[in-house]
Order: sequence, then C-alpha cells, then structure tokens
Amino acid sequence: MYLVSLVYASTRCSDWKDKDIYQILSASGINNAKSAITGALCFNGDYFLQCLEGDRRAVNELYRKIQNDHRHRDVILLHYAEMTHRSFENWQMLYVPESKMSQSHILRYSGRQQFNPYEMSGASALQLCRELAFSLPEDDSKL
Ligand SMILES: Cc1cc2nc3c(=O)[nH]c(=O)nc-3n(C[C@H](O)[C@H](O)[C@H](O)COP(=O)(O)O)c2cc1C
Repeated sequence: MYLVSLVYASTRCSDWKDKDIYQILSASGINNAKSAITGALCFNGDYFLQCLEGDRRAVNELYRKIQNDHRHRDVILLHYAEMTHRSFENWQMLYVPESKMSQSHILRYSGRQQFNPYEMSGASALQLCRELAFSLPEDDSKL
C-alpha cells in the first residue's frame, strides 16, 4: 500500500445550491472513513481546492468519481505525489469555508489576496491547505 496525496482545483457548477456543500461533506464523511481517505476541502463560494490523501488505489478511485461530479467543472490536477506520511490524519475531510481563510495565508501562497487555486502551483496549493488546517482552532476544524 502506497500513500499518495492529490490536490486539484475546480469551479462550482452554475446551478449550485447551498445545500450541495452539506451533501458533499456528508458523503465525504461516510465514504472517506470507509476507504481511509483523509484531506481538506477549501471552498470560497466559487472555487474548490481539495487535498485527498490515502492509499493510491483509493485516492485514484475517488478522484475519478469526483471528476465526474456535475456539481463542479474545470477540474484541474495541481499535485500528485507519493508521500511518507499524512498531513490530515485527524480529518476525514476538513472543510475550510472562505470565512476561515485568512488573507495573510492566501497572500503567502498566491500572487494576490483573492483565493484562486487555478493561479497556484501544486506545491503552494498543498501547503496552503496544510496551513489553513493547522491554523483552525481544534473545535472549528472537526466535521
Ligand atoms: C468538490 C467536491 C468534493 C468532493 N469530495 C468528496 C470526498 O472527499 N469524498 C467522497 O466520497 N465524495 C466526494 N465528493 C462527492 C463525489 O463526487 C460523489 O458524489 C460521492 O462520492 C458519491 O458517493 P456515493 O457513491 O456514496 O453516492 C465530492 C464532490 C465534489 C463536487
């Protein structure tokens, strides 16, 4: 079993409803626990940045499902690598909404203060996810 991390960016679909995020997080909580996938999902109301980590086969299968999900579009792979250990082992899928993204974190990894994962390198996107996760108070960051 090889551990990998995968990071992608995408854009919400035009008929996005607020309830969609709750459905996604609910499915993630159940499915990711079963397949031992952990990670973080950042969403600013327009763009998603998601980091998935776990067994290579499980991560690839989930990424295929996610790519075919009509609730978002323009799915772009930013980063894929084998890794020695997880960063998000405490979270089935940590949710980071815009209100929890500090401008200083975004600016550290981007050319601008606006959250736009399409303008980030894979390494910057992964590191931003990690920093956002570890900057949240523990109670805030649980699903
Ligand atoms: C931005 C985005 C992120 C998602 N993340 C996950 C995830 O981490 N885990 C998961 O199981 N499904 C995730 N989904 C949902 C999957 O695309 C798919 O709908 C779901 O896995 C199907 O679950 P089911 O087979 O139990 O019906 C995500 C969907 C979107 C649009």
